[in-house]
Amino acid sequence: MDASFQANDLEHVVEADRAHIWHHLSQHKPFETVDPQIIVEGKGMRVWDQTGKEHLDAVSGGVWTVNVGYGRESIANAVRDQLIKLNYFAGAKGSVPGSLFAERLIGKMPGMSRVYYTNSGSEANEKAFKMVRQIAEKRYGGKKHKILYRDRDYHGTTITTLSAGGQQERNAQYGPFTPGFIAVPHCLEYRAQWDVENYGERAADAIEEVILREGPDTVGGLCLEPVTAGGGVITPPEGYWQRVQEICRKYDILLHIDEVVCGVGRTGTWFGYQQYGIQPDMVTMAKGVASGYAAIACLVTTEQVFEMFKDDASDPMNYFRDISTFGGCTAGPAAALENMRIIEDENLLDNTNRMGERMMANLHGLMEKHAAIGDVRGKGLFCGAELVADRASKEPVDEKLAQAVVASCMKQGVIIGVTNRSVPGFNNTLCFSPALIATNDDIDAITDAVDTALTEVFGG
Ligand SMILES: Cc1ncc(COP(=O)(O)O)c(C=O)c1O
Repeated sequence: MDASFQANDLEHVVEADRAHIWHHLSQHKPFETVDPQIIVEGKGMRVWDQTGKEHLDAVSGGVWTVNVGYGRESIANAVRDQLIKLNYFAGAKGSVPGSLFAERLIGKMPGMSRVYYTNSGSEANEKAFKMVRQIAEKRYGGKKHKILYRDRDYHGTTITTLSAGGQQERNAQYGPFTPGFIAVPHCLEYRAQWDVENYGERAADAIEEVILREGPDTVGGLCLEPVTAGGGVITPPEGYWQRVQEICRKYDILLHIDEVVCGVGRTGTWFGYQQYGIQPDMVTMAKGVASGYAAIACLVTTEQVFEMFKDDASDPMNYFRDISTFGGCTAGPAAALENMRIIEDENLLDNTNRMGERMMANLHGLMEKHAAIGDVRGKGLFCGAELVADRASKEPVDEKLAQAVVASCMKQGVIIGVTNRSVPGFNNTLCFSPALIATNDDIDAITDAVDTALTEVFGG
């Protein structure tokens, strides 16, 4: 940490925060008696708060974002240089970092070809929904306008992305919602909805059942997370994705993969969908694209989707009439280019695979020791441990106990996550998403803290 750091200097910052900041996803009553936590500085895997306390960050900035770790001067320099040269111009024109990052990105996504810049994951997903709607209008007289989403998935915070949200506690009290969004069942085998051998295929067949019920000529898009994040770190069962792809092709439904969390290395491949050998029509990404050094999100499509918006140039309405003011900020692609260079030059995909295996092995070790862990799931450095009151019945623990585990880790100086205001009754999955630079020692320190916390909360 910076030697000039003085805890006392920050007292007025804490008071200004308490007086004026409205924090995301937070009940503020406790701040009347407890100080809000201010994160002051970060370096590598670690951050320091206003009291000078050091924390090992196992959640990459709280919401799986800071993939290359804190304090990257080369990203700061790339952004600074770009801002001095040109900070902004609206997206109807091009920019140097915008073009170059798009080219690099498409190089990692065989089969995809076009990048639309925007500034948040929610916004990128909304753009994809708008494309499905416009295609329905242009090609199918508006009929093929329905968009399917999956129970337990999350696609954003706006009213329309909540309409495509499968986490009822996120949605509650914010309706009425946008019409035309239809839920399909989740694919979490641990919470099985069918008693079959080939669970993955069965869970995918459930999507086909919904399509047939709604009418295939009314369904234009299917939006899925490759690995469900905030809904419980749900890795899809064997056979799921292949069948999903077949179903989409069979009914001419655009497959939209939401890589806002999994994108840019989190699972150990550039994109989560690449773990499963599928070819999407649209891919959205945000958090890890520039590791939080600048706000950037992208909607990437195939050339085939792109072509549908330029095939009739004589019609003044026949193009994607969308605007994103901050999609024209050049800091985003400048940061993203350097972020990608770091991941390549430091072999962070390999590291993610190795450290992910270690994290899973450690979590399975904890599962042998602590009956409170009912299931462990994960892909790369994106892992979860579901806590249960009873292994046989799989009854989830009370969310207060899961939160007590998180609080105990925090006391020990390790920041972990837990599913929060997500699926009713299932705010019980501990979440781990350390930066892709994590070392063996970091991974062990994280799981050691969880070990101590589980003993403290549930007994030895
Ligand atoms: C899978 C997924 N999609 C979309 C979003 C929304 O992204 P943003 O918060 O940048 O709008 C999130 C945010 O957590 C997410 O986890």
